[in-house]
Amino acid sequence: MEKIIINGGRPLHGTVEVSGAKNAAVPIILATLLIDDKCVIENVPGISDVSLSLDILAAMGCRIRMLGRNTVEIDSRPARGGLSPYELVRQMRGSYYLVGAELGRWSRAYVGLPGGCNFGVRPIDQHIKGFKALGAEVRVEGGYIDARAERLSGASIYFDTVTVGGTINIMIAAAKAKGTTVIENAAREPHVVDLANFLNSCGAKISGAGTDVIKIRGVDKLYGSTYAIIPDMIEAGTYMCAAAATRGCLHIANVIPKHLESISAKLEEMGVEVIENDDSIDVRHTGELRRVNIKTLPYPGFPTDMNPQIGVLLCLAKGVSCLTEGVFDNRFRYVEELKRMGANINVDGATAIIEGGHELSPAPVKAVDLRAGVAMIIAGLAASGRTEIEDIHYIERGYDDIVGKLRAVGADIKKVIIPDPSVFEKAN
Ligand code: EPU
Repeated sequence: MEKIIINGGRPLHGTVEVSGAKNAAVPIILATLLIDDKCVIENVPGISDVSLSLDILAAMGCRIRMLGRNTVEIDSRPARGGLSPYELVRQMRGSYYLVGAELGRWSRAYVGLPGGCNFGVRPIDQHIKGFKALGAEVRVEGGYIDARAERLSGASIYFDTVTVGGTINIMIAAAKAKGTTVIENAAREPHVVDLANFLNSCGAKISGAGTDVIKIRGVDKLYGSTYAIIPDMIEAGTYMCAAAATRGCLHIANVIPKHLESISAKLEEMGVEVIENDDSIDVRHTGELRRVNIKTLPYPGFPTDMNPQIGVLLCLAKGVSCLTEGVFDNRFRYVEELKRMGANINVDGATAIIEGGHELSPAPVKAVDLRAGVAMIIAGLAASGRTEIEDIHYIERGYDDIVGKLRAVGADIKKVIIPDPSVFEKAN
């Protein structure tokens, strides 16, 4: 078993370099399957969701070559459809992009149902509605999605809810469909734009990404390209919160400040100094943190993927704050863990009422999902004394070398391997 151990209570100071965005990297890597050519993807983050995506592509016959720590060449010409291993696919939410990619390339997809973090029910009905509108017959049986079409044809699709995954999946499937597809009520996240830019660099004709209407004119052929993934706005936001929570000061490099506006605005409202530069941001704790109310929303609203991290900061802000989750059913599973560290939080439906202004105390805690896990790291950094975090594999799904990056800015944090007790029993 692996754990993270933190001796907290030290302010963070220095420079942190942000890696490529997880939620852009996974769809871009899986969309190379559609390209049927050789692509080089740069600024790829070193996270387990990326290695899992590459393992899935390799199992399907793609030739994968690492050209550097953050650059990968993917040749999807030898790939065959329907071969993604069930046990890999079910470990990751983003594996549902294989459905769009297989359908787009072979007019047939056979993919295990996705896994991923548990924040309540996470249906894929809007993805299925979109594939059906493009002319596919879709069945979900025996743990698999089985979709087939003669040939996908462009269609008009209105999403009943704003969905990042649904928007991306339909863009991938429709890139080579016959005719034009229009997605209305599309997600506007920067990673949706990044995927569109990547596909366009391969010859696709996608316009409107970043607005709520996206138009995809299908093309017959896509060509390989070299493409660099955008910086991870959630990783950047996480370090912004860590700087404020530890009463420190961080220069956060390799970011697109525009993507961070909702996070910067809330931190400033809390009394944190945020200075935007061209491609970096400086965050400094300047005095007592002030209470605020926050509601998470689709982009450009405050991101749901920052709910747990800002939740920790609100515990340190004097007064009562309300944090309302507007995207997922249940994003507050971290609250029980944070209570072990002395947090005073009551969850009422979609709102957490946080009475802040007291120090957090160190405790043994668990990462219950990716962002919940990183929130425990922020809490551990803020709390004076020793915090131990279990189940850190969740954190490794989405944070590139978080331990190394935090150590470089003054954190006393390490990853340790605790031998499984059964190993001792066997040895004795
Ligand atoms: N929804 C439906 N039907 C669908 C699809 C979504 O009802 O067919 C609902 C969801 O249940 C949710 C809302 O719509 O209430 C939004 O879900 P969305 O589809 O936007 O989320 P997702 O594609 O499942 C991605 C990211 C998440 C991130 C969300 C929102 C990936 C692999 N996952 O999930 O990332 O929280 O968008 O931005 O890209 C994370 O990085 O920690 C993470 C969980």
